Amino acid sequence: MIRVLFVCLGNVCRSPMAHAVFAHLVQEVGLGDRIAVDSAGLGLWHVGEPAHRGTLAELARHGIRHDGRARQIVRADLSAFDYILGMDHENLAALRSMATHRGATSHLTRQHIGLLLDFAPQTGQSEVPDPYYSGQFDEVYSLVRQGCEGLLQHIREQHAL
Ligand code: 4NP
Repeated sequence: MIRVLFVCLGNVCRSPMAHAVFAHLVQEVGLGDRIAVDSAGLGLWHVGEPAHRGTLAELARHGIRHDGRARQIVRADLSAFDYILGMDHENLAALRSMATHRGATSHLTRQHIGLLLDFAPQTGQSEVPDPYYSGQFDEVYSLVRQGCEGLLQHIREQHAL
């Protein structure tokens, strides 16, 4: 099983969007039994809450459901996932710091910790902007969608799926 984790600050806006979109794309190509998807937040403010209504509304506009609840990332996640994708540079710095300090090294020799938009160079952006205050959930969807499509293509090539 290839395990993919999307990470943002609160796990209510951006990473649940990526989680739902990527899981949807994985299902569409029939790889649900080969690729597992999850998301988590770096902070604990929203733990246990459903995704933000703006994220859910934008997903619904595209026919995608999501019923996950926010959780905070734990150290074990750094060893358990093959691909860990942050939404912005701040997320990535926090993930790299956690990975460096986790003590035991990951057993995953080909683990990738990076930014989602590394997989969507055509966007010209490296970060998915936080919609928590701006309300720009449509922009988040567009960026996340392109990132997820690029990521899936990359994984399929890397793992001959
Ligand atoms: P997210 O957005 O990281 O995309 O889930 C945020 C959600 C909540 C907060 C910040 C960002 N907050 O400060 O509570």
